[in-house]
Amino acid sequence: MHREVCYREDNRGGGHGLIIAHISDTHVGAPEFRSELFRKCVDEINELNPDFVIHTGDLTNDGYRHQFEDAYNFLDKIESELLIIPGNHDARNVGYLHFEEIFGGRYSVYKDRNVLMVGVDSSEPDLDDGHLGRERQIWLENVFRGYDGFKLFFLHHHLVSVPYSGRERGVLYDAGEVLKILVDSNVNLVLSGHKHVPNVWRLEDIVIINAGTASSLRLRGMITPCYNIIEVEDGELKATLKFVGGASRNLIEERAKIRGLGLHY
Ligand SMILES: [Fe+2]
Ligand SMILES: [Fe+2]
Repeated sequence: MHREVCYREDNRGGGHGLIIAHISDTHVGAPEFRSELFRKCVDEINELNPDFVIHTGDLTNDGYRHQFEDAYNFLDKIESELLIIPGNHDARNVGYLHFEEIFGGRYSVYKDRNVLMVGVDSSEPDLDDGHLGRERQIWLENVFRGYDGFKLFFLHHHLVSVPYSGRERGVLYDAGEVLKILVDSNVNLVLSGHKHVPNVWRLEDIVIINAGTASSLRLRGMITPCYNIIEVEDGELKATLKFVGGASRNLIEERAKIRGLGLHY
């Protein structure tokens, strides 16, 4: 799972583009979890062969060890480099200890001369709310300082409300402070999960992207299981919403239609 990273030659005609598959909220162990969706999602991602796969948490539904082991067995089939952080469901029942033992640290930093990707655990044991707090805010300021390449930040809880996701109750407690740090640090892209609804916002120069649930039927409205594909090339960012086993949509250009998008099971 923690394999050597190699940038492949872009065989679609020029350049060395960065391709990231963004999955989230797989919820292994939930009554609504569907193993066939997880397997299909992994197959599609392996076919895509992205440079990285980022999972923004809620791997499991209850934080139980057997759920983490099952999640590992699904995720271990991913052939690309996987970066992963826990969500609030993973922190239930002291599940963060299993996360650490099976997946490594609850923070994730990848850096080379082209890209710096920083993931943090925003969960609190047995709480659905998330926050970073002053200490982690300072750490974040420091980790981005002085880096000139493409900067990506990922966490489970969303920083800005997501439309069509019901009553707002999950924004990070200290989202304002964290957004200011990200803006001041010239971060390019933020990836989150938690609401199970895909979305994209722009805030100053940051693109903020949410992913839906990749492998569960814990759905809201018309949206069905999906993940995002993000391509960065020559400073241009393209985001594609991919329904598992189904169609692709341009997440930015077709945002207005997202309310009614989905595949029905
Ligand atoms: Fe979730
Ligand atoms: Fe969550």
